[in-house]
Amino acid sequence: MAYLLSKENFSKMGEFIYRKSGIFLEEEKHFEKLAKYIDSRSGVLGFDNFRKYFFKLRFEDKDGEEFQELMNSITVNETYFFREKDQFEVLVNNILPELHRVLPVSKPIRILSSPCSTGEEPYSMILHILEEGNIVEKRDIEIIGIDIDSTVIKKAKLAKYSERSVHAIPKNILAKWFQKKTLGYDLIEDLHGTVDFKVANVFDRAQMRKLGKFDVIFSRNMLIYFDDASRKEVAMTFYDMLNPGGYVLLGHAEYMSRIVSVFNAKKIDNTLIYQK
Ligand SMILES: C[S@@+](CC[C@H](N)C(=O)[O-])C[C@H]1O[C@@H](n2cnc3c(N)ncnc32)[C@H](O)[C@@H]1O
Repeated sequence: MAYLLSKENFSKMGEFIYRKSGIFLEEEKHFEKLAKYIDSRSGVLGFDNFRKYFFKLRFEDKDGEEFQELMNSITVNETYFFREKDQFEVLVNNILPELHRVLPVSKPIRILSSPCSTGEEPYSMILHILEEGNIVEKRDIEIIGIDIDSTVIKKAKLAKYSERSVHAIPKNILAKWFQKKTLGYDLIEDLHGTVDFKVANVFDRAQMRKLGKFDVIFSRNMLIYFDDASRKEVAMTFYDMLNPGGYVLLGHAEYMSRIVSVFNAKKIDNTLIYQK
């Protein structure tokens, strides 16, 4: 089947997407998905060739809606509750008690989940803090979740989850904090609003600056989609966004030592954490 997107134009699109989002698309893996998306989007917009679509994307997208549509279609949003659970244990048993000791009690501890996808990661932090943390009554903890994909942020705000998404939550915790529905599980109302969700692109300096400073940044399973230069840029953005003494946690296949050398790596049990 002939697509509007040619192999040559795939490189142009790839370059554009990379520059704006850091996401690096490979022709072999991503051509068909992108070509199908452009065909369907061009149909909606009434365009009969790639040039018209690409022109709109680059020059007639003042509100960023066309770019947002494109991002929503290419991101990989795979996530689930209690994924890489050891890191949540280290958060509640090591990082938060340490920060509670050294930071003035009047100051909230601020945690960023970047990217948060459909919200399972920041809500897993909340569940661990509620179930295991002993500082919850002693001070404010603010959790913010961001993602470039606006459809996942909408879903995160709804807090409705599938069986698959909750499969790793122990049964007693699931029963306590979720309501079983015909199709999946709803997080109980009391926990809605405990995470502040926003659409944001980690490469957009202005958007990131607006979020303020943090004491902990979880950035798991996003850097794997970037190349070395983009990973470096994002790592330095996180460095700038952290308060002194703050921590970054990455996904299990991601190592800060291979990206930048400005953080001090610490190992707690088998979990690596990186301190500013
Ligand atoms: C595989 S999910 C990871 C979710 C969660 N952190 C976890 O580990 O389960 C990757 C997410 O990164 C987001 N993402 C990709 N590029 C991004 C960017 N430039 N800025 C913000 N989020 C981005 C995608 O939309 C996607 O939801």
